Amino acid sequence: MKKRPRDMPNRCFQYPRNQQLTDPGPRLAARYGTHRRSTPMPVTPSRAFPSITNMIRMDHGHVTALFHRYRVGTSTTRKLALARNACLALEIHAQLEEEIFYPALATIAGDSEVLAKSKPEHDEMRRLIGNLRASTPGSSQFDQTFFELMRTVLHHVADEESTLLPRAERSLADQLGELGLQMTKRRMQLMAPHAAEVAMTGVQSFPIASIVLAAGAVAVGAALFSRRGRGSIERLRNLGHDVAHSRTARKLGARASQFLS
Ligand SMILES: [Fe+2]
Ligand SMILES: [Fe+2]
Repeated sequence: MKKRPRDMPNRCFQYPRNQQLTDPGPRLAARYGTHRRSTPMPVTPSRAFPSITNMIRMDHGHVTALFHRYRVGTSTTRKLALARNACLALEIHAQLEEEIFYPALATIAGDSEVLAKSKPEHDEMRRLIGNLRASTPGSSQFDQTFFELMRTVLHHVADEESTLLPRAERSLADQLGELGLQMTKRRMQLMAPHAAEVAMTGVQSFPIASIVLAAGAVAVGAALFSRRGRGSIERLRNLGHDVAHSRTARKLGARASQFLS
């Protein structure tokens, strides 16, 4: 058997993790075709957090799910819970978009017609929310106002998801994670005074799914604000993975989907 020359790198050798290698030099590289191991990619908010566009889609999905559960024949208690949950979620979502997403988008799509009408559409939504809160739950006027709100919001959501979000993903790709992190922090500030209402109306709207969501939100919030050292983002990512794949989460998720189907 032919013997390996002394200066030839051993291709089966596994370099220790996180160890940056020195350059083997052009002579050895040309002779044996060796390669350099790249340094590990740093964990940045852009990589560790959901993008702002996906968070916006999740908010839209949450409100749409509430809309789908509202029927004329639904009990008054459930209707009220669905309406209160949807109104609060919409108000917070609109404020987050106006404070964080729209200004970022204006830097690359200031000429967009859809962007220009977004704020007026939020104002129309706020007017309808005011009317809904002023009407009596269980009355036909309550139903009518809720369905009008639904129509306005679904139209607005369609514009955002078909125009603004793709535009942001094309032109702001390297900022989407950082913007998502900003949105998460601001959301927690805005939701803090309404925690009890969110929990109560959430349980009445989605009895089982809300338990999973609330547990996940508490865990993520605790990890986000603990800030113990430089590895906090990495630990948060691992925590999210563990929570999502835990046996309990899988069981509750399965029960929730059975309940919701
Ligand atoms: Fe919006
Ligand atoms: Fe939106």
